[in-house]
Amino acid sequence: MTVHDTIRPIRWDADRLWLLDQRALPAREVYLDYDDPAAVTEAIRDMVVRGAPAIGVTAAYAAVLAVRRRYAADPAGWRAAVAADLAQLEAARPTAVNLHWAVARIRRRLAELDGDPVPALLAEAQAIEAEDLAANRVMGRLGAALIEPGTAAVMTHCNAGALATAGFGTALGVIRQAFAEGRLGEVYADETRPWLQGARLTAWELAREGIPATLLCEGAAAALLRSGRVSWVIVGADRVAANGDVANKIGTYGLAVLARHHGVRTMVVAPTSTVDLALADGDAIPIEQRAPEEVLCCAGQAVAATGVAAWNPAFDITPAALVDVLVTERGVVHGPTREAVAALFERPPS
Ligand code: MRU
Repeated sequence: MTVHDTIRPIRWDADRLWLLDQRALPAREVYLDYDDPAAVTEAIRDMVVRGAPAIGVTAAYAAVLAVRRRYAADPAGWRAAVAADLAQLEAARPTAVNLHWAVARIRRRLAELDGDPVPALLAEAQAIEAEDLAANRVMGRLGAALIEPGTAAVMTHCNAGALATAGFGTALGVIRQAFAEGRLGEVYADETRPWLQGARLTAWELAREGIPATLLCEGAAAALLRSGRVSWVIVGADRVAANGDVANKIGTYGLAVLARHHGVRTMVVAPTSTVDLALADGDAIPIEQRAPEEVLCCAGQAVAATGVAAWNPAFDITPAALVDVLVTERGVVHGPTREAVAALFERPPS
């Protein structure tokens, strides 16, 4: 059984951070290199790198760049400058909790360190990357086991693939694994306006790995789900609240409503680094609002009538009641509740 797993959007090499520029895909595969933490903050905001776990891993490496720069400039007083760098990083994108989770972990590690902090911090960032990859492989196996052999098709939204993580992916990790195990025939992917993560990124990953993929406009999802061809909607998450409510790419909520109406199950695949036990429910999750131009334009060209406004929330909240299964690296929760989500943290990783 071959599980294709070749895409790595984030690399630490030659003492620099390298990010696969996701804005250029699928036309061009270009890695941009960084040694300035402020430039990494911009890269996160501008979608060079995106997807909650990938943003977390990137932030960890950006912290290494910040500490290296500030410690070299002022070995006695670097901590205040690094604190400001980390605050800027955290403000880059508000919804993906992995960013805040990774920065909090880096802060805890920094508090333990004396002398030159760079080697230990680099090891911490590399551990965050390796743990994300390992979690995705575990979730891939747990989620794939839920997909009945002979399943004709599943549907996904946005890109929760290798590109959105350290590698392998969350929702696409389950899909990769299920396809490799011969359980699954094909994948339908929403194009995912306005950034077209489905058309540009998910379709690129699936085509590259030989998994049959069909693209549709979001507006076609209801008709597809009504057709009976799709058994599961499988998505990632940017943040899961303590009660199991899920923030994910705008349009996920609508898909989950449609899925429930048509008897299709919804699977959310997310590592526990995406679960925010501090927030009681989805209403407390901050939703990023992005520039109207992203909706008013397409591929840099204005497409809307001059003078019209645009509403551009990047994420929506899917209530836990619409989630059939939450797959984490610590186990699977059927019908997430506050108690079941809390219990995940009492178990060791699978
Ligand atoms: O705006 P994006 O592209 O960062 O949004 C990404 C998503 O919504 C993903 O589904 C989510 O981060 C999970 S990625 C494993």
